[in-house]
Amino acid sequence: MALVCVSDYEKKAAEILPKSPWDYYRSGSGDQITLKLNESAFNRLRIRPRVLIDVSRRDTRCNVLGFDLDCPVAIAPTAMQKMAHAEGELATAKGTINTIYTMSTLSTSSIEEVGEAAPDTNKFYQLYIYKDRELTKNLVRRAEKAGFKALVLTVDAPVFGPRRCDIRNKFELPQHLRLANFTDEKLIVQSAGGSGINEYVASQFDPTLNWNDVEWLVRFTKLPVILKGIITHEDARLALQTGCKGIIVSNHGARQLDTVPATIEALPEIVKAIGSQMTVMVDGGIRTGTDIFKALALGAKAVFVGRPVLYGLAVDGQNGVESVLKILQNELDSAMALAGVNKITEINDKFIAHESTFCLSKL
Ligand code: FNR
Repeated sequence: MALVCVSDYEKKAAEILPKSPWDYYRSGSGDQITLKLNESAFNRLRIRPRVLIDVSRRDTRCNVLGFDLDCPVAIAPTAMQKMAHAEGELATAKGTINTIYTMSTLSTSSIEEVGEAAPDTNKFYQLYIYKDRELTKNLVRRAEKAGFKALVLTVDAPVFGPRRCDIRNKFELPQHLRLANFTDEKLIVQSAGGSGINEYVASQFDPTLNWNDVEWLVRFTKLPVILKGIITHEDARLALQTGCKGIIVSNHGARQLDTVPATIEALPEIVKAIGSQMTVMVDGGIRTGTDIFKALALGAKAVFVGRPVLYGLAVDGQNGVESVLKILQNELDSAMALAGVNKITEINDKFIAHESTFCLSKL
């Protein structure tokens, strides 16, 4: 059967992948309330299309943070991609040439391998801050040297959220894979009885991380810094004072604190607070062109996708990643045509209403 939308890729990936990697990729934390909400909250928003507008000059190209992109859809960092496909991060980076590819610190290919394999892709490096600051500094310097163009500092992971599937599966990296940015024998993802990744994070990541560390990183690196994992206007305002260049409104794909808002619900308060002063982007639950349209209408300058890319990668490596991105671009183009829009910059909040606006009992 032809795979024509992201959910087709999701179903196919579920058939292909072994249980433990599939559960790791797909699941969220706790009761997975926010996991469901990230996707379903989009369905509570309605697009208000305009008609009788010449839409023959449509163009999904845009400029985000100074980068010219084919479409405002970028790649979120996701860990351990070689569990999905033998080429892992290399296939994803090569398949995302016309947008932004973000590489996870917890990758199964090294910074240098990705830099070499995809010299023409706009590459961002996602950083976790380790208790070992020398090791952290070294990761930053390696990313700078390998041609990465920004650092994405993840700020919502002092510890990892309780992902029950991983605990039940005693998740660990398959024997033939390793976290490729580290040579230290201790830095492996192996279960000591629970989820191997949570155990790794508890022993390695720095839970004292705070706003001073963000300022330190901004001073330390030559690259622009983007904060990922902010979902309140209070934190967005604090981000403004750090010298970082943008934020990604994110709840880590609902893998950290369960029952936080869907990111599309959190986006408006953040855009209102800082949208005129800083680039605000969003990730979480984006599966269709209409989801992208809605996020842009609410003020995001770009969206990031995590799981859809893993599904494409699992199904067909680099080709699968390219197909998923093409599907999203085509669906966005179609939404623009049918809503009466030619340019990304024309999409605004007049095109969107919450379902409560249409409450028939109010008539
Ligand atoms: C993630 N995410 C993530 N974020 C991060 O900053 N560093 C990481 O290493 C990872 N790893 C990771 C693995 C997997 C399997 C998933 C699903 C997610 C979070 C990711 O960057 C992004 O915030 C979400 O994936 C966005 O939600 P969707 O698009 O997956 O719904």
